[in-house]
Amino acid sequence: MSPSLITTAYLAAAALFILALGGLKTNLTASRGNLFGIVGMAIAVIVTIAAFVTANYALLAGLMIAGGLIGFILSRRVRMTQMPELVAILHSLVGLAAVLIGFANYMDPAISHTGIEKTIHEIEVYLGIAIGALTFTGSVIAYGKLSALIGGAPLLLPARHWLNLAMFIGVVYIGIEFVGNPDHDQAVIWLLAMTAIALLFGIHMVAAIGGADMPVVISMLNSYSGWAAAATGFMLSNDLLIVTGALVGSSGAILSYIMCRAMNRQFLSVIAGGFGTGGSGPSAAAAEGEVQTIDVDELAGRLNNVKEVMIVPGYGMATAQAQHAVAEIAKTLIKKGVNVRFGIHPVAGRMPGHMNVLLAEAKVPYDIVFEMDEVNDDFPNVDVSIVVGANDTVNPLAQEDAASPIAGMPVLEVWKGELVVVLKRGMAAGYAGVDNPLFLRDNTRMLFGDARESLEALFKAL
Ligand code: TAP
Repeated sequence: MSPSLITTAYLAAAALFILALGGLKTNLTASRGNLFGIVGMAIAVIVTIAAFVTANYALLAGLMIAGGLIGFILSRRVRMTQMPELVAILHSLVGLAAVLIGFANYMDPAISHTGIEKTIHEIEVYLGIAIGALTFTGSVIAYGKLSALIGGAPLLLPARHWLNLAMFIGVVYIGIEFVGNPDHDQAVIWLLAMTAIALLFGIHMVAAIGGADMPVVISMLNSYSGWAAAATGFMLSNDLLIVTGALVGSSGAILSYIMCRAMNRQFLSVIAGGFGTGGSGPSAAAAEGEVQTIDVDELAGRLNNVKEVMIVPGYGMATAQAQHAVAEIAKTLIKKGVNVRFGIHPVAGRMPGHMNVLLAEAKVPYDIVFEMDEVNDDFPNVDVSIVVGANDTVNPLAQEDAASPIAGMPVLEVWKGELVVVLKRGMAAGYAGVDNPLFLRDNTRMLFGDARESLEALFKAL
């Protein structure tokens, strides 16, 4: 394949990846965006094989079929609620690939550079392996936390910031020893030592981030996986991998920034760990009031005489798979002349846009789905807010208790409306592990049970 054809095909693939990212901006164009991404990736894979692979075709085909099959089966099996952990584990594979390619590249006797090129190549290998290793273990820990295989509570080791600093200094020191080291075997040992530190750093960094700050970690690991891929692109001198990695890295970084703003957190504070973790566990603020319940018939009666309804979905809607029932109720109320809106918190659920994806799947019209900032001032005019499996994102302690792990996080101020009905199974805390005094407020009624079952019963009663 001629170099100009390869460059043209790579340019086309890069343009398709940019169009894919642009398409993912809104629900309406997301499918088209995904299609652009698929075509771009197909071009990238085919051209790379045609241009650079000269042997081991059977091995390559076997591995591609095995990988493709695993991906296909996973994508068919995964439930919407498991998407966040699937994304986390896929990030870990990008990190692992960067580490393995880095070592293979450095130890390949066929690759030899001299002078400044050698130095640059060693820096590329070093950075690629470092970012890849911390992305790998960080993503595995994030996977564990998101799938509840390990607890969500932060691991707050004494002197953890010093530990991070020591690891950072260690990585810089080893880097100085590694780059330009004439003894190849000794250099490999330095590389292994740095990899061990970076693997530990990834574990420690994500383990120290707790509860409500996990969204920032996910987007941050997304970004790291992109930079790991870009570093691999430099090692392999593959322009498309550099561009693609940079696209993923920078879009992940922008998403991290958006998440930090949504959580009212400083990015550096979050990655330093231990923030958003406060006095982990139930808040120190004593909650007052009694739990008052409501049944489906009473709620249906109430909804027959209202003008403004706000539906606030959370993670419980995803686990209950209640999005279709909620869509039917919205449709019924709209037919009755009620102004129904959905208020979406930026970190509701377990992944960015989680609620929007579910509501789109249930064909809820986009023009009644609003971001938190668009509706938060309207709650005093809302007759009934229906909170479907949301907890942390409607917790008033975020504003009222400075010692709370979720202190400072903007929340949907549902309690300012006339009546709040909360659908959940019991009094369990949300993801951040904080009790929620909303459930004890005078104008709150609890509708206990699985959200989907409650909503289906409500639909019948309406
Ligand atoms: P959460 O605070 O996670 O609360 C969800 C609530 O849903 C739980 O309290 C649970 O109470 C209830 N629930 C579970 N299954 C249910 C079912 N079948 N029927 C009815 N209720 C059910 O939800 P949220 O308000 O969406 O907040 C999201 C949290 O996750 C935030 O802390 C956020 O920082 C964190 N997080 C977000 C992301 C992203 S990127 N969005 C990623 C990681 C973490 P019961 O058990 O009593 O029913």
